[in-house]
Amino acid sequence: MSTQPLMVQLTERSYPIHFSGVAEQLKADVATLRAAGRSVRAISDARVLNAHPHYLAQAGFQDNEVLALPAGEPTKSVEFFSQCLSFLAGQAANRDCTLFAFGGGVIGDLAGYVAASYLRGIDFYQIPTTLLSMVDSSVGGKTGINLPEGKNLVGAFWQPKAVYVDSELLQTLPPREFAAGMAEVIKYGMLADRELFNDLVALDGLNARSPELPAIVRRCCAIKALVVADDEKETARSGGRALLNLGHTFAHAIENVAGYGQYLHGEAVGIGLCLATRLSVALKQLPIRDIVNVERIVSQFQLPCRLNEALRLEELMTAMLRDKKNRGGQLRFVTMTEIGSAVTTDGIEINLVKDLWREAGAE
Ligand SMILES: NC(=O)c1ccc[n+]([C@@H]2O[C@H](COP(=O)([O-])OP(=O)(O)OC[C@H]3O[C@@H](n4cnc5c(N)ncnc54)[C@H](O)[C@@H]3O)[C@@H](O)[C@H]2O)c1
Repeated sequence: MSTQPLMVQLTERSYPIHFSGVAEQLKADVATLRAAGRSVRAISDARVLNAHPHYLAQAGFQDNEVLALPAGEPTKSVEFFSQCLSFLAGQAANRDCTLFAFGGGVIGDLAGYVAASYLRGIDFYQIPTTLLSMVDSSVGGKTGINLPEGKNLVGAFWQPKAVYVDSELLQTLPPREFAAGMAEVIKYGMLADRELFNDLVALDGLNARSPELPAIVRRCCAIKALVVADDEKETARSGGRALLNLGHTFAHAIENVAGYGQYLHGEAVGIGLCLATRLSVALKQLPIRDIVNVERIVSQFQLPCRLNEALRLEELMTAMLRDKKNRGGQLRFVTMTEIGSAVTTDGIEINLVKDLWREAGAE
């Protein structure tokens, strides 16, 4: 694997993703910022800090520069957003202040939105600690929080200045969270990289100690970086950044109807990937044997292919129609024309989608 950082190419907003010698790089960058008269702050969650109590100190952060929030999705809220702003304002942080997110997607999304908002925008850095945040949420600049009315309803595009991917941090990640991150890894193979998909199939399993893991994480980041460079704000009329939502229209509906917390996001994505495959087969874009191929790999990585318990079909359909990714009231899905190649498809028949939900266990 290359030891060079991977660049996300966004002209003046381009930034590196570091994969090698990450702890040292982070420490050096923090020292450089301080030497330039910049201050540093970090936002993290209690569980991450408990699992890695010395990581930030070793990188040069002092205790009073770190805000520890409760772990979990409810932290991505207006309440904790406000607490983060008060943390910065209370210490009279000015525009020279830089903000680091040390945590999973929850902390990354929240801290990114805090950085985008405080003093109309301060520099932001990501130190992802979950597999999901390493391969997905830390790259691409989508930041935001939830409202009681729905997930990710408030946010901003705010690119980090650098991302530090230290896969050693994953050794403390609970196996269920690791599996959830694998859903996004499988997704990249399905939407853009058949070889990655095949390599995953050939693996006996994967965990935080697997020697193959760092290269797999880097491959996923490379795909995300290319897609984001091409369509940073998801404005392409077709294809583009929306392709990263393969399986997610189904997944968001499951999370919404089951109630957040019932399924981890990645678990809902596992079901969503299977349904997106079935949809592609029904549209005659994929051969029927790919249903078996996808269901096998999803199960191989301890993810569900079907609902654990029946959910109400009508509620799932309502949630899908509300999805903010839909265009002009029409259902829009990401489908595959082959494993490794995805497209956006509009105008899908509602009855076809209902049949798919029933096959997945909806009533
Ligand atoms: N911005 C984006 O592009 C994007 C993309 C995908 C998902 N997301 C968002 O990401 C969030 C989900 O992220 P997530 O799955 O990383 O969840 P998370 O941040 O809640 O982390 C999952 C759990 O693992 C714990 N944890 C994190 N790192 C750990 C470690 N190294 N060791 C031990 N425990 C650790 C956390 O404390 C938490 O309890 C959602 O809010 C989702 O909307 C954003």
